[in-house]
Amino acid sequence: MEPSRARALAIQDAEALAMIGVDFVRLSPKTRITESSTLSPLPADAASDVRLPSVSPRPTSNPERARREQALAEVLARYERDCPHQHFPTDHHCIVFHDGDPCARLMFIGEAPGADEDRIGRPFVGKAGQLLDKMIAGMGLTRQEVYIANVLKVRPPNNATPTPEQAELCAPYLYDQIRIVRPEVIVTLGRPATQLLLATRQGINELRGRWQSFPPPDALARPEGFETPIPVMPTFHPAFLLRQYTPENKRKVWEDLKLVMARLGLKPAR
Ligand code: URA
Repeated sequence: MEPSRARALAIQDAEALAMIGVDFVRLSPKTRITESSTLSPLPADAASDVRLPSVSPRPTSNPERARREQALAEVLARYERDCPHQHFPTDHHCIVFHDGDPCARLMFIGEAPGADEDRIGRPFVGKAGQLLDKMIAGMGLTRQEVYIANVLKVRPPNNATPTPEQAELCAPYLYDQIRIVRPEVIVTLGRPATQLLLATRQGINELRGRWQSFPPPDALARPEGFETPIPVMPTFHPAFLLRQYTPENKRKVWEDLKLVMARLGLKPAR
């Protein structure tokens, strides 16, 4: 890549990090800046003729990781058999189940795949996903070290926001994912994921920035296997952040992520 292009991309990256409140992240001297390491959108033909694996490759030598991968594969197989999305309109070519480490301490939950995710088969790979990657990097982690899933596993038409009824139909599979990964902290991204996990109709503005728990303490029906609740930090969805690019919203998301980092003993990337 031309040095001027690399410099422009590096500036774009720094601006993206600054956007979520991270002023500076040290790059290793060996870090190569490539087109794909920036916030630029995926090329239109990124996956036109290839199907990537639905999970980033990672070492499988750890027996506990292998056990969880097998358990997650069984949940996916059950989802494929049940097809809960047969009960609502979709515009999908593939099921987008998850990405990341089944032994992760931190889990992110979004709402539903978009066009890029539907093409590639992995959650959060479009523009919002690239911002999520920056948020994860700002926390001193990588995508391979966290676990990422969505409420809906298939793309809604025109990227419509999932309804509470659609979310309920898909909830058992998401709860199984949470049960298997058993993260120390869950970050819900946006309203649908937050409302589903917290069994509430309250808005994200009221819920974000304060620790909640899954299942919520006043839950009428407690999903099995969650006797010890998992701390949940709701925050804005990265797609919302991209639309409402205000310093105030960026600061709020970064404040939410800092609470998560403090809880997990993580240091921000420097
Ligand atoms: N938005 C989501 O909520 N999930 C994705 O996977 C992509 C965009």
